[in-house]
Amino acid sequence: MTAKLISGTEVAAQIRAEIKQEVEQLKAKHNIVPGLATVLLGLDPASVSYITGKEKAAKELGFYSERIDLPDNTPQQEVMAIVNRLNNDPKIHGVLVQVPLPKHINETEVLLAIDPKKDVDGFHPFNVGKMVIGEPDYLPCTPAGIQQLLIRSGIQTDGAEVVVVGRSNIVGKPIANILLQKAKGANATVTVCHTRTKDMAFHTRRADILIVAAGRPKAITADMVKEGAVVIDVGVNRIGMSKSGKAILAGDVDFDAVKEKASFITPVPGGVGPMTITMLMQNTLKAAKLTAGIK
Ligand code: GUN
Repeated sequence: MTAKLISGTEVAAQIRAEIKQEVEQLKAKHNIVPGLATVLLGLDPASVSYITGKEKAAKELGFYSERIDLPDNTPQQEVMAIVNRLNNDPKIHGVLVQVPLPKHINETEVLLAIDPKKDVDGFHPFNVGKMVIGEPDYLPCTPAGIQQLLIRSGIQTDGAEVVVVGRSNIVGKPIANILLQKAKGANATVTVCHTRTKDMAFHTRRADILIVAAGRPKAITADMVKEGAVVIDVGVNRIGMSKSGKAILAGDVDFDAVKEKASFITPVPGGVGPMTITMLMQNTLKAAKLTAGIK
């Protein structure tokens, strides 16, 4: 079997067109422009690339966008003061602080300081709690994007055996939670594997849907995948540099071998990546509507 490609680029374009239309209506009917602020400490190339993509998408969709780039030695108090200012700025509906933060910063304290109503990343414990009890306002963007890819590709999650590889707060834990909810596009039986899992392949071979966020190229090889499985690759690994100086990216899955076994597979780049930014835009639009009391 050769897998069908799930194009995150195409699904993201579809959702962005829907968002753009809603933004135009929001402006015309209510004179509201969704506003997103991003805060970045330092010059980590992956983080700079994410933030640039987020800013670009916000502008393309007609959002108000504010980008705050800070040196990586910015003191905690200054970051807290900026978050506080953005919490109180009525032009801003969504506040995003790019993680990971430099070691001297207490990340939990920063994420706790973001007003949960403006927490378009869905990282604040208040929003994590709402997700877990099945009453989310803002789902974390990468897991929300994965769920949309499954739904919009017509992949049945109801009763499916889902195996997640990785237990990060950004991807592994939330996607496991989202897919086990009693809800449309969920209702799965979920297993989470991690670095202390005894026999990883035993679990991954049972998966109808395998979601991989391990952070390591070729963490999943063809022998670890069931014939006909749906494979979602969340990995973004920089494995080299092209002659023009662009990073060469690879996922966590041995794509060439696994695509011969899977029924559906996401490429890297062009799979989950474009969905993350799109779901951030959707959350920011939702924040603007919630603030104004619009359904
Ligand atoms: N770092 C990697 N992914 C993300 C994300 O979705 N949001 C934030 N704030 N930081 C990230």
